[in-house]
Order: sequence, then structure tokens, then C-alpha cells
Amino acid sequence: MIEQLEQVEKQALAELEAITTVESLRTWRSTYLAKVGPIAEISRGMGKLSAEERPRVGQRINAVKQSLQGAYDALEQKLIAEQRARELEHDRVDVTLPGRPAPAGRLHPTTQTLREIERIFSNLGFTVWESPEVETDEYNFGLLNFPPDHPARDMQDTFFVKMPPGSPKVVMRTHTSPGQIHAMRKFAPEPVRVILPGKCYRMEQVTARSEMMFYQVEGLAVGENITMGDLKGTLQEFATQMYGPEATIRFRPSYFPFTEPSVEVDARCFLCSGKGCRMCKYSGWLEILGAGMVHPNVLRNGGYDPERFSGFAFGMGPERIAILKYGIDDIRWFWSGDLRFLEQF
Ligand code: PHE
Repeated sequence: MIEQLEQVEKQALAELEAITTVESLRTWRSTYLAKVGPIAEISRGMGKLSAEERPRVGQRINAVKQSLQGAYDALEQKLIAEQRARELEHDRVDVTLPGRPAPAGRLHPTTQTLREIERIFSNLGFTVWESPEVETDEYNFGLLNFPPDHPARDMQDTFFVKMPPGSPKVVMRTHTSPGQIHAMRKFAPEPVRVILPGKCYRMEQVTARSEMMFYQVEGLAVGENITMGDLKGTLQEFATQMYGPEATIRFRPSYFPFTEPSVEVDARCFLCSGKGCRMCKYSGWLEILGAGMVHPNVLRNGGYDPERFSGFAFGMGPERIAILKYGIDDIRWFWSGDLRFLEQF
């Protein structure tokens, strides 16, 4: 039996010599050290031995098991260490490689333009305010001096909100001008100087020049002795800060029910400096906003006495401002979500 045992030990150790991977080492263990195998087989023969022989053989069996287990442990450690060293060599980090640039998000061009507009008017003493995107017909039109069924309403094709019968007529606001009434009613009879940025909606045919949703920034100043000269000075300062020291503006007579007199304001085309080009349709001027002196009826609706108070108001489209500033050819880019467009800003 002992001879058999030594034979098995010799063979096991010889096989172990040749092992180079952890996987074949595990196979070796299940061959020699598991509950079934040559050594377990030999142990079973112990029953036939005499009582004197049994302890000697038993000890010998244990000694062989221990020696194989020891050899196994040592080789296992060695193989694992080797494998780790190979992995480390293979996965080594090359700290001299250039880094990959992380893609960074950025602000939407409209947001950037809004922030620029807000910065300029804050510096001129205007507070930034917001007013609701959904308004009653009363606020969107009536209080702004649009008579019922007046053709001026056709300037702004309107989305109406479905309401239960008997409720007041409700609309998606077609401009930020109803914010004028909200602001005046909040501040009257104190003077007020606010800008009101926000989204507006019109039932437009979507084209390169018009979208169903767009932003406006309303401006309103009401106080004693406010004149058209203040409006002009404020807007000239805005144009200078937005477009640079060369910027020039002009007023053209126009019509809005809520201002009297009303004007449209053009900026000299920055692409051709007024010589005439495709962008300004060869006129040398680009329309940037609508404005005027607040109509006495609107002042009254806001809570001011038009005999004592006067004011100016203007409304500009930041998308339009950005289109002109960056030479963008189609307003539909703004809400397209197209990264090729957005990443340019
Ligand atoms: N609300 C006008 C529009 O949307 C613009 C405007 C605002 C005109 C304030 C005059 C004064 O066309």
C-alpha cells in the first residue's frame, strides 16, 4: 500500500511540474485531492490492515495528502502572481497619451441671446420679470386697446384654448405685451421699468421666417416725463451693446393698437454696413423690433393717470436678434434639436 501511495505521489508531483496555468492546476487538484481519486481509493484498503499496521499507513497517507496540498498551494500562488503580472503589463496606462476631449453641453443660442439682452437692460435699470404664457383674451387683446373684432387682431393669428362653456376666452399669448398690464397693475402708481422675456405662440405657416413658437422680450418704462427721446436713447444703447459701437438704428412709423405713436425699429445692416446685400434685401436696414409710446387707454387700464404719466414700450424677438447677429438663414433651426446647428454657438 505504501508503495502504491509513493507511486501516486511521484506521479502527481511529476504532473504538477508541467502545469503552467491555473485552470490545469484546478484539474490536477480534482484528480488527486478530491474525495474520489487514487489516494481516497488506497485509504479505503485500510480496513483490511492489522491494528498495528493501520496507524503507520494512516500517517503516511496524511503526510502524502499534506505534501500534495502544500505543493498545490505554492504553485497556485505562483501562477496567480504570474497571471497578475501579465495583466498589469498588458493593461499598463500610458500617461503620455493625449486625453479625449469630453463633449460639453452648452446653452441654446436663444438662451444665450436672452441672457445678453437681460444683461444689457439690467445695466440700464430694468428689472427682469415674467408673465403667463396662457392669457385671457382680455389681457392679450382687450386691455391692450384692441377693440373687439378689430382687424388689428388679424396681425396675430391666435391659438385659442378650449374652455368649458361660460368661461372667459383664453388664448396662448400671441405676444409678451399682456405682461405690460400685469407689470403696471403691480407697480402703479409707482414708476416701473421692466423687461419681460418669454415664449409666444401664433398659428403661423411655419417657414424659414416664422415659427409657431418663438420668444419675445417686452420692455416697459412708465413714469413722469418719459418721452420718445428716452425710447430712442434706450434702444440705441441696446443696439450699441448688442451689435457693437458701429450699430445705428432708425425709427419708421408703424401701427400697434397699444402704442401711440408706434414705430418699427431697424438696425443698419451689419453684414453690408448699409450698402445693401441679400441679408437686408438690398435695403441696407434690418427690422429688429416694434415699439412706441404707451397708449393712454393702456396706461389707464394699467392703473396710471395718462394726464400725469407717460411711458414707452417695445417688443423684440431674440431669435430674430440672433439670426441677424449670426447670419442664420432659417428660423426652423432653433427648435430642430440639430446638434450640427447647436454646437456652433
Ligand atoms: N407686441 C408687438 C408684436 O408682437 C410688439 C410691440 C411691443 C410693439 C411693444 C410695440 C410695443 O408685434
